[in-house]
Amino acid sequence: MDKKLQTYLTDESVFFNELIGKRMSGNRIPIEADYRRATKYIPEDKNSDNELIDPYLYKIVQGDYIDELIERIAKQSGNALDICCGPGWLALELARFGVNVDAYDISDIAIATGEKMLLENPFPLGNGQVTYNCLDVNKINFDKRKNDTIYGFSAFHHVYEFDKFMNNCYNNLNEGGLMVTFDDIGYTKMDSFFKNLFLFILPTFELTYLDKFVRLFNYIFKGKLFSNEIYSPMEIYAAKHDVASDAILDFFTKKMKLEKMVYYGAFSVRVCNSISGPDWFRYTTSKFLTFLDKFLIKIGVCRGYYRIIYSTK
Ligand SMILES: C[S@@+](CC[C@H](N)C(=O)[O-])C[C@H]1O[C@@H](n2cnc3c(N)ncnc32)[C@H](O)[C@@H]1O
Repeated sequence: MDKKLQTYLTDESVFFNELIGKRMSGNRIPIEADYRRATKYIPEDKNSDNELIDPYLYKIVQGDYIDELIERIAKQSGNALDICCGPGWLALELARFGVNVDAYDISDIAIATGEKMLLENPFPLGNGQVTYNCLDVNKINFDKRKNDTIYGFSAFHHVYEFDKFMNNCYNNLNEGGLMVTFDDIGYTKMDSFFKNLFLFILPTFELTYLDKFVRLFNYIFKGKLFSNEIYSPMEIYAAKHDVASDAILDFFTKKMKLEKMVYYGAFSVRVCNSISGPDWFRYTTSKFLTFLDKFLIKIGVCRGYYRIIYSTK
């Protein structure tokens, strides 16, 4: 492995270690650590860089898609491989449905968090188990066992030597086995338009109305654009080596048999997570925006920032 790649991998681990540490602070449980036990947390001030945790809001904006994903993998049952598992919410949730999950991540804090959540888990696991491994996924010993499902939740676009890695996954999958990928694929111009429009109109955690007007002024008169998008080191490295959403799409539709592809959250997920105000206001507005988002995707005006692909071997 070249030195540059090794540096990116180390930085990736540091990046996610810090992120998870921040998200778990104050004894909070974020959704990415435990889907069922996530604790509600509303940031108190506009400048706080702590992100909102709101399980009820999550259900409103993306619950249907995530529950469908869990159900589909649970139906496949047997052995599953979780690529870049993070703090392990999906591996844990699938184990609760009886799936045996072998989960891998390069961040030691993510793996330690997954193990802690597994230990504290108050729900029955039945025959399900999770084994957490702190390892670079490119170093997985693929001869260890065959899998019924291999999935990556916001994962495959972090992987280097993408073609080799995906072929290893394919060869390690049973005939009829399932592969699932969840990816954030970016905003189209229309998605972005609605996102910015609603972020401007609605009260948000991050910015006051004065901040918003200053930004609008800077955009109109100085052409200055603001972006809140943060990329992890391996996302940057992989993108430089053409591991983008198109490569993932190609693999899942050309090498595998496409079962289903879903797009959602053109603007609603981003906007709803930022709306401030009393719960009744945030939830009612979020239900409306989620409905509008689905409708605009259905009629082809928007595309969706998130994509889930289900394919079989
Ligand atoms: C966006 S997070 C997704 C985490 C998790 N799947 C979830 O749903 O919360 C990407 C994860 O990929 C991990 N990662 C990146 N490159 C990796 C590699 N080569 N091997 C193992 N894990 C890696 C990071 O540590 C991070 O936890």
